[in-house]
Amino acid sequence: MGKTAKYVAKQPDENGYIAYTDEENRMWHELITTQLELIPNRACKEFQQGLETLKFPADRVPQLDEVSKVLTETTGWTVAPVDAVIGFTEFFELLNNKQFPAATFIRNHDEVEYLQEPDIFHEFFGHTPMLTHQKFADYVHEFGKLGCSVDPGYHGMLARLFWLTVEFGLVKTDEGLRALGAGILSSPKEVVYALDSDVPLRQPFDVIDVLRTRYRIDILQPIYFCLESLDQLYDLINQDIIGYIDEARRLGMHEALFEAKSA
Ligand SMILES: [Fe+2]
Repeated sequence: MGKTAKYVAKQPDENGYIAYTDEENRMWHELITTQLELIPNRACKEFQQGLETLKFPADRVPQLDEVSKVLTETTGWTVAPVDAVIGFTEFFELLNNKQFPAATFIRNHDEVEYLQEPDIFHEFFGHTPMLTHQKFADYVHEFGKLGCSVDPGYHGMLARLFWLTVEFGLVKTDEGLRALGAGILSSPKEVVYALDSDVPLRQPFDVIDVLRTRYRIDILQPIYFCLESLDQLYDLINQDIIGYIDEARRLGMHEALFEAKSA
């Protein structure tokens, strides 16, 4: 999701194969090598279990079919190639079909540490490990179901909840605070900042508070919400998310924690 595109998606051939260049494969290698060193004490164990299940190659960008095969076997999901930027309607329709949208390009070398637009490293490394867990996949599916069934006026708020959980969520564990969000776990810079820095705020997860929180997609997050457990997230499926959105709107948005350009 986003509004501007710097990158162009790479198109699969008739067999679904995407030909990545040597330079692009090297970029994947550099990113996965870096992240695998950074995440052991920063990612939740469910994410790390997902990585073990997926067994990403270190020397090349994995193909869509390889990743979809593992997701299909574990939770019934697939990844679907999309343009670098897609709209809410397409986004929610894909999730409703248990297809995770994957932008197929990989970042340039000047954006190794942090990338505003999602690239294939973000999609595969950041998102698909958690999608090997049925309850998490069901939580993501809920966004698709809701997004396709409610007035599009709710899409922005659903995206906000998605952003502050699936992309940038933290969770308390017996070993300490850990990341589950793909935006954190696919960024060498943000994975250290989100867990180790004393700059960002870290607040207990409260769904109304989350829905009242402004965010920007082009900066390190000024605030992270910390779940008591992953079950706190999964329990939302059985709750009235649209009712929470109505309540958050009634209460109004929190003061922005950054300068202008809010989402
Ligand atoms: Fe993402």
